[in-house]
Amino acid sequence: MYAFRVIGQKKLNGTIEIFGAKNAVLPIMAAALLTKDPIHLTNVSYLSDVMILAQLLESMGMKITQGQNEITLQANNIMSTHADYDYVSKMRASFWVLGPLLSRFGHAEVSLPGGCAIGTRPVDLYLMALKEMGADIRVENGYVKAVGPLHSAEIFFPKISVGATHNTIMAAVLTKGTTIIHNPALEPEIIDLISLLQKMGANIQGIGTKTLIINGVEQLNGCTHAIVPDRIETATFAVAAALTQGKIFMRGARLNLISAVADTLKKSNIRFEQQTDGLLVDAQKATLTATPIITCEYPGFPTDAQALLTSLLSLAKGESLVEERIFENRFMHIPELKRMGANIRILNSHTVLIRGVSELSGATVMSSDLRGGVGLVLAALAAKGESIIQRIYHIDRGYYQLENKLQQLGADIQRINLPD
Ligand code: UD1
Repeated sequence: MYAFRVIGQKKLNGTIEIFGAKNAVLPIMAAALLTKDPIHLTNVSYLSDVMILAQLLESMGMKITQGQNEITLQANNIMSTHADYDYVSKMRASFWVLGPLLSRFGHAEVSLPGGCAIGTRPVDLYLMALKEMGADIRVENGYVKAVGPLHSAEIFFPKISVGATHNTIMAAVLTKGTTIIHNPALEPEIIDLISLLQKMGANIQGIGTKTLIINGVEQLNGCTHAIVPDRIETATFAVAAALTQGKIFMRGARLNLISAVADTLKKSNIRFEQQTDGLLVDAQKATLTATPIITCEYPGFPTDAQALLTSLLSLAKGESLVEERIFENRFMHIPELKRMGANIRILNSHTVLIRGVSELSGATVMSSDLRGGVGLVLAALAAKGESIIQRIYHIDRGYYQLENKLQQLGADIQRINLPD
């Protein structure tokens, strides 16, 4: 089993590339099921989640070819609309094939994803929307068995869900009539999916507002699309700069995608400068300062950046209250952070109180999920001495060769093979 070995307290300086977002490329790959024409995606990062979804799509008959940071998908010979448990259990976003399969082929059988480390993560909103659109849905033997045809509908989401929004948009674009979605998610990855679908010929209005209006079209065509830059990877390197008083230029990154995180970091005297080809983060004069954080839907502070900031606030002067409002179990990294010397009290399942300490010390710790795991790597970059971060397969899901990028910036980090 692989682990990261980090010797902390090295200043990070230099330039790295930020490629397309994991959370955008996954729904966009699923959207390739909506047409028989090729969908050519650029700015793609070869994350392990991308590979898992590619395998699932290939198991259905999708033709996939890969090049340097690009991938072409063609669904002109789909032989199966079955998404097996083996894939969906490994990666929840595989469930998102449900909407496009149902709208294009009229039936789908997709494994339920089950819970995961950060919470129960139900799919009731996905199923509610598809039922409103006329799908006959049964849950049997761990699978959602859905049969169309779909019709247009007016859908009110009682709660904002990124996945349910993706799935419903993909179901609606090929469905005759006008489907209205109230209270959709507004994340940049949703906007990126919509932008792809528009290039494919979809008719979608109200983009970026609380009401999406989708007029179904008969068929969609192929296109080329560059995936929006990964805002969580951008935030990760911004925090890495902050924790090491470094200066990092991220080619391809966009400040407007990380406004809430940047506003928080600016309180610690970290400077951001958007340039034409990327984003500069200058933390050479950083003085880490306590600040409250409340995670919420976009454009609020992203839950995926909460673990990154808890590592940073562990070293910030003063007390910070961190409230997690999206997922019910997203503090799994905290006990590990405490093993590195952080002073954090878990007040309840949604809130922690951090009292900044002057130094963290290296330790052997274990990742329990993707962002919690990378939060531990960030803490290790700032800590005195050696840390071993175990179970980094969680981190590989969302960061392509993280150690290479950090090495490029001057970090002392190695991927090591530990005996099982
Ligand atoms: C996506 C992101 C994930 C991010 C999350 C919130 C991807 C691949 N994943 O996950 O990185 O942390 O958005 O920004 O893009 N919920 C229900 N019923 C449902 C669906 C969701 O109650 O049918 C709840 C969830 O349990 C959670 C909240 O809604 O408490 C938000 O979840 P959602 O926005 O759906 O997250 P994902 O799309 O799974």
